[in-house]
Amino acid sequence: MTSTQSSVSSRPVTRPGNPCFSSGPCAKRPGWSVAALSDAFTGRSHRSAEGRARLADVIERSSAILGVPEGWRVGIVPASDTGAVEMALWSLLGARPVDVLAFESFSTLWAQDIVSQLKLDNARVLKADYGHLPDLSEVNWTHDVVLAWNGTTSGVRLPSCDVIPAEHEGLVICDATSAAFAMDLPWDRLDVVTWSWQKALGGEAAHGMLALSPRAVERLEQFEAPRPLPKIFRLTKKNALIEPIFKGDTINTPSMLCVEDALDGLKWAESIGGLAGLKARSKANLAEVVAWEAKTDWVSFLAEKEEERSSTAICLRIVAPWFLALERAEQSKVVKQMTGLLDKEGVAFDIASYRDAPPGLRIWGGATVEAADVKALLPWLDWAFAQVAPSA
Ligand SMILES: Cc1ncc(COP(=O)(O)O)c(C=O)c1O
Repeated sequence: MTSTQSSVSSRPVTRPGNPCFSSGPCAKRPGWSVAALSDAFTGRSHRSAEGRARLADVIERSSAILGVPEGWRVGIVPASDTGAVEMALWSLLGARPVDVLAFESFSTLWAQDIVSQLKLDNARVLKADYGHLPDLSEVNWTHDVVLAWNGTTSGVRLPSCDVIPAEHEGLVICDATSAAFAMDLPWDRLDVVTWSWQKALGGEAAHGMLALSPRAVERLEQFEAPRPLPKIFRLTKKNALIEPIFKGDTINTPSMLCVEDALDGLKWAESIGGLAGLKARSKANLAEVVAWEAKTDWVSFLAEKEEERSSTAICLRIVAPWFLALERAEQSKVVKQMTGLLDKEGVAFDIASYRDAPPGLRIWGGATVEAADVKALLPWLDWAFAQVAPSA
């Protein structure tokens, strides 16, 4: 054990005010309680004037905070972000060759769906291991391109908005679920953007959001996907977009409790300055981890490049030589021991890395998490690591 480790292994005194650091469902906004839902439109139809107005309010507030351009359609769709992404893939793909970036668990799942379920014979999977992005110079932007803006399971994000050329013939379909409300998205370079309520604003898991550019709508109306589509995926009728979906008429029944909670998160986002406020809070959370990582020798970011480091899904590798010498299953056990200790102390819940990712830690740094709580958590990580290190 190094001097750094032994000097910080004593039991910290300060605890995070909120131990919720899960990467989804994410922490509720500061000050949230169930009372925030007291005006929920429960026991009433979502198709009544008031029900529809509340759904439309979610669409309008989300669009305003995110800066969705005029002319885009934003709708509430079934099955969270997964539902929104799958709807887009199944409805839109097949018209052109497809390039899909697969660099962590979810983007790899989209690639598998495109290749094995949609069975598109003109799909190319551009792969990279956890911690890296695929070589973006390999992307053919005349193809449709499927990507995750922020890899929630690797903590790697696209480094800047201009990695996508302004002129691209294909559609760019972007899973932005762990990026929306935390980082800038290049709306002028994307065609489909998806996210879910359970991520950056701390909403309840249930529904997904699907945003379509005018080019994506044009594709939907002109291209008939050569496959059957279940009702919950269908966005067009007789070659015309079903416009009411984008005005608050959902395809199937939403939970009005979840709708109320989504509105609560959006109103909180507005109260802290909208996207600028959300981004600043997320950056402050990452800054706490960056400062700690710089002076801590047992840990390192999973993202290899600083400019690709996510401020929401902050993924950490354990780099102590004794840990690296273990088999993967043994490494997972060590991580489980650490997270078990932290859970028992009530200082951090759900911070083990995603099941397919390299064993390590993952701390959610979206805006609903307080920087002071991240700061208070970090000495506890040193403590937990010292407890499981062989020489402790
Ligand atoms: C990048 C990404 N895509 C998709 C999903 C699936 O989201 P949901 O469970 O909300 O459908 C997640 C969940 O964490 C994710 O991080």
